[in-house]
Amino acid sequence: MRILGISAHYHDSAAALVEDGVPICAVQEERLTRRKNEAAFPLEAIAWCLDHAGVQPEQLDAVVFYEKPMLKFERILTMALRGYPRSWASFPRAMKNELGNKLWVKGTIASELGVPSSRILFTEHHQAHAAAAFFASPTRRAAILTADGVGEWATLSLGRGWIEDDGSASIELRRELRFPHSLGMLYSTFTAYLGFPVNEGEYQVMGLAAYGKPAFSDQVRRMVRRTPDGAFALDLSYFEFHEGARRSFSDRLVAELGPPRHPWDPIDPGTAEGARYADVAASVQLVLEEILVDLARSLHRETGLEDLCYGGGVALNGCANARILRESGFRNLYVPSAPGDAGCALGAALYADRLHFRQRHRAVPDHPYWGPEIDANDLARLAREDGLEVEQRAHEVDLIGSVADELAAGRIVGWMQGCTELGPRALGNRSILAAPHDAAMRDELNRRIKYREEFRPFAPAVPIEHAERFFELPPGGARLGRFMSGVFPVRREWRARLAAVTHVDGTARVQTVERAMAPRFHALLEAYGARTGVPVLLNTSFNLAGEPIVNRAIEGYSTFLRSGLDVLVAGNALVRKRRRVSAKPEEAVG
Ligand SMILES: [Fe+2]
Repeated sequence: MRILGISAHYHDSAAALVEDGVPICAVQEERLTRRKNEAAFPLEAIAWCLDHAGVQPEQLDAVVFYEKPMLKFERILTMALRGYPRSWASFPRAMKNELGNKLWVKGTIASELGVPSSRILFTEHHQAHAAAAFFASPTRRAAILTADGVGEWATLSLGRGWIEDDGSASIELRRELRFPHSLGMLYSTFTAYLGFPVNEGEYQVMGLAAYGKPAFSDQVRRMVRRTPDGAFALDLSYFEFHEGARRSFSDRLVAELGPPRHPWDPIDPGTAEGARYADVAASVQLVLEEILVDLARSLHRETGLEDLCYGGGVALNGCANARILRESGFRNLYVPSAPGDAGCALGAALYADRLHFRQRHRAVPDHPYWGPEIDANDLARLAREDGLEVEQRAHEVDLIGSVADELAAGRIVGWMQGCTELGPRALGNRSILAAPHDAAMRDELNRRIKYREEFRPFAPAVPIEHAERFFELPPGGARLGRFMSGVFPVRREWRARLAAVTHVDGTARVQTVERAMAPRFHALLEAYGARTGVPVLLNTSFNLAGEPIVNRAIEGYSTFLRSGLDVLVAGNALVRKRRRVSAKPEEAVG
């Protein structure tokens, strides 16, 4: 049975193909169209998935869209009517934008793919999140938590999933919170208030939070009232996003917290204004964590289960994830590599397979590498055309040795291996790697390559066998670090020697690398450790600011040429940048 899953028309469109219960491939549209956070119907991702799997559209048993468009329409219409007349102006805008596309998605799928409409299915948005988190985890019985901005109506759901011995699977989402009461919208509202782009600036809020103290937490707690059932309700007098206004927060919020930051204003936590922004970030981060920990704790009590599978965009918040793991009572916390809407393409396909068609559950390979594969020959050809020397190594150990030498010498390496990751993080297949020891390396990366704010930390990668030596991981922490989903303290004695990857509060979003999942990356970390005594590398996504993560060799090569990268590796091909030979003064005159 072949099922194509699709997510589209909001943020991070993607397609995924599941065959006989096992994912074959999945890719985000942005990696192919090269437009960051591409939201359009993912024609290129679909074409690539079908081509990669050698499947014709008519061979698909089902095409599954990751949410129910009519429910979403109902929500937007209801909110518009409820807020009338203030909200009425925004209704045509919502209709004209992506919602309009969504309503006609069945027609789009039928006409673009030539699939009869009887084979087009829809899951609910949070069912897709739940399936992406549960079915891809190595557990057969788990509590499930999903939290995001909003799907149709649900913004958060609580439940559980289980797989019987005969392979039949169930997902039961027992409770849900509905729009406008939303943790994702709360955090996004503060993202906008702090002058960062919503849907991608949330990382910046989390990074900035470490510089501040939660001095405004009482004010934020008033905006998010806790309800007797352990959930919460936003006090809507502080918010305007639900009315479709151009601004997501109200004058009342500004009166409590002070003026919002203009996106163009620099942030310096050393100034009074910058410190206030950091305090606001720390406050909303703290309140988010408190609510999530309480919800997870009560879910643990209710279910008595050891494992929690957690999806939705809020699950990208690594600081909150670490607290959930430490404080909720669950032994394991499984967050997929793509907990956001891109992962819903895979989640929707798996949901349809297990729950609509009642196919037996089959274990999903436990890795994030579902996209297009790198071709070393592409890089070799491109570089030779430009007259650069290409080393293509027959033996992996030689390649690893050369790259480890370069890294130990302080060079910055673009590293492309195997298949592209699904999800927003580079996990060793499309990564920029560098020595993690010196804060100067962090500044250089920010200046020469990433062109981004200094308060955003870089992440370390470490072989899982050595993780405990450098990082304070709670039980289950190494697993949470598999897809870089948790932020943990760097051991005090290592902070100075891991300065480029240690955040101002002494933490790091560590990736724990298992040999079985990423053998070449694991070998590189070990080889670097053999040279320096510290098997840790700085690992940041291979892209320039504002661009999606590189996918093919040509994008890696173009990024290499346009940035301060010293070395580029694709598969077994290695290219060094020509060193600029500075003319010595005596030669110049003599
Ligand atoms: Fe979502």
